[in-house]
Amino acid sequence: MASSLRSLFTDHGRYVEAFRSFLGNSTEHQCMQEFMDTKLPDIIARIGDAKSEIKILSIGGGAGEIDLQILSKVQAQFPGVCINNEIVEPSAEQIAKYKELVANTSNLENIKFAWHKETSSEYQNRMMDKKEIQKWDFIHMIQMLYYVKDIPATVKFFHSLLATNAKILIILVSGSSSWKKLWEKYGSRLPRDDLCQYVTSSDLTQMLENLGIKYECYDLLSTMDITDCFINGNENGALLWDFLTETCNFCKTAPPDLKAEIMKDLQEPEFSVKKEGKVLFNNSLSFMVIEA
Ligand SMILES: C[S@@+](CC[C@H](N)C(=O)[O-])C[C@H]1O[C@@H](n2cnc3c(N)ncnc32)[C@H](O)[C@@H]1O
Repeated sequence: MASSLRSLFTDHGRYVEAFRSFLGNSTEHQCMQEFMDTKLPDIIARIGDAKSEIKILSIGGGAGEIDLQILSKVQAQFPGVCINNEIVEPSAEQIAKYKELVANTSNLENIKFAWHKETSSEYQNRMMDKKEIQKWDFIHMIQMLYYVKDIPATVKFFHSLLATNAKILIILVSGSSSWKKLWEKYGSRLPRDDLCQYVTSSDLTQMLENLGIKYECYDLLSTMDITDCFINGNENGALLWDFLTETCNFCKTAPPDLKAEIMKDLQEPEFSVKKEGKVLFNNSLSFMVIEA
């Protein structure tokens, strides 16, 4: 059954559309902004100590909205210090959006930007071929580890690139979110390929412990408004279904029994709360901080 469904990641245009729809219907970026406002200043308090330039590496920076929030916190913490911000991002479309955002944002004068159109493993291979390994003061991997084949090896590699007082910030869906339940219950009936894997902060915690890497974890509540998913023929709802199930055109191509089961479940308290006529799916996020 799963084989007849097509993974959303095989259609990049549809994926980007579904992701935009998810962002518009969730508190994902607001939740991250709250973290950047309340927790990040303490986390980055020492990353630039005694440094003439602060080097930041963004892995899977997307269209740059969250990256710029991080940069503004670093600027506030270390006024006037030059920042070298490099971005590893395989999507040309996302890079173009990021460049446009930078061009339209003020107060970025002390920041140098460089984009590398490649995946994290391509970056890793490129660095391994170099004689001298570049070290970084802050590395972030925000909602992107799902797309990495060997997560422990990737985290271990980027951990080895940390300079003195440097940190890594990883943001992933929380093990307490409804994503975990959805994947556990329906993952075997949804399209699987090697482009994306079901991983939550609980899995990452286990991997970090196995690697002996110390971390701190903060969980924040975020919700995704999935009300449109229950309105027949609603195009936004169709995009949200694709995002939830990581399936291309789920509404049109899913077997009716599978769709009916997921539809019923998503309205249950185990997955969502109902508030002011809306159905809110639990999209809680985990913020994992790793030290050098
Ligand atoms: C869900 S988006 C998150 C974007 C951004 N960090 C945010 O939170 O808004 C995931 C991003 O990771 C990028 N990506 C996918 N596979 C990747 C890989 N193997 N290495 C680096 N980035 C990757 C995608 O192109 C996309 O921009």
